[in-house]
Amino acid sequence: MRNLAIIGASGHGKVVADIARKNGYSEIVFLDDDESIHECGGYSVIGKSSEAGTIDAGVIVGIGNAGVRKQIQESIPDEKLLTLIHPDAVIAEDVAIGEGTVVMAGAVINPGARIGKGCIINTCSSVDHDCVVGDYVHISVGAHVAGTVNIGSHTWIGAGVTVINNVNISGGCMIGAGAVVIRDICESGTYAGAPAKRVR
Ligand SMILES: CC(C)(COP(=O)(O)OP(=O)(O)OC[C@H]1O[C@@H](n2cnc3c(N)ncnc32)[C@H](O)[C@@H]1OP(=O)(O)O)[C@@H](O)C(=O)NCCC(=O)NCCS
Repeated sequence: MRNLAIIGASGHGKVVADIARKNGYSEIVFLDDDESIHECGGYSVIGKSSEAGTIDAGVIVGIGNAGVRKQIQESIPDEKLLTLIHPDAVIAEDVAIGEGTVVMAGAVINPGARIGKGCIINTCSSVDHDCVVGDYVHISVGAHVAGTVNIGSHTWIGAGVTVINNVNISGGCMIGAGAVVIRDICESGTYAGAPAKRVR
């Protein structure tokens, strides 16, 4: 029997639970600071995020917001943190993936890529060869990052984004859904469109 506590009883948490189930975790519970939530995806919410350190289970943070994810993940002892990879993700053998990262169904991560801790590599996204993805980055559903791209920590790559090869993207950016990033983004901010331009 493998026990898992997922912090964050949300839609994202529900997907994380499904991946955990497919990885052989049979006893799954949620922790959430919102006391009005009692159930998520058929699993019980048994306490608050602050209880993660004491519970007899591996822990993963299933929260989309990078700042909150980081804050909570860093409060959890390293030995309890898990990394979860959907069995239908395709990951090259030499890829390094940090603790607390979740890789979802249909994601592809190609050789030489390095993925930081606390990242979300979402459904059917791809991270190509030799990319360096910082901590707490979210590569959203259907986004494609070509080879040798660097993405700074806390950046959120929106759904269906395309990033061409050899581009650097600063930390703390939001890249809007469907954007096409064709040159370096050196300042944190919100970028959208094709080619991506700063909108905030
Ligand atoms: C980019 C984004 C964060 C902007 O949200 P916001 O800060 O609330 O900004 P607004 O909606 O006020 O839009 C600001 C401007 O950018 C434009 N814009 C916003 N998102 C855009 C997008 N994805 N592509 C092109 N233009 C976009 C708006 O039309 C608006 O233009 P205007 O000022 O000329 O009217 C949001 O639209 C977005 O794309 N989020 C991604 C969500 C996502 O991918 N989720 C994946 C979950 S897995």
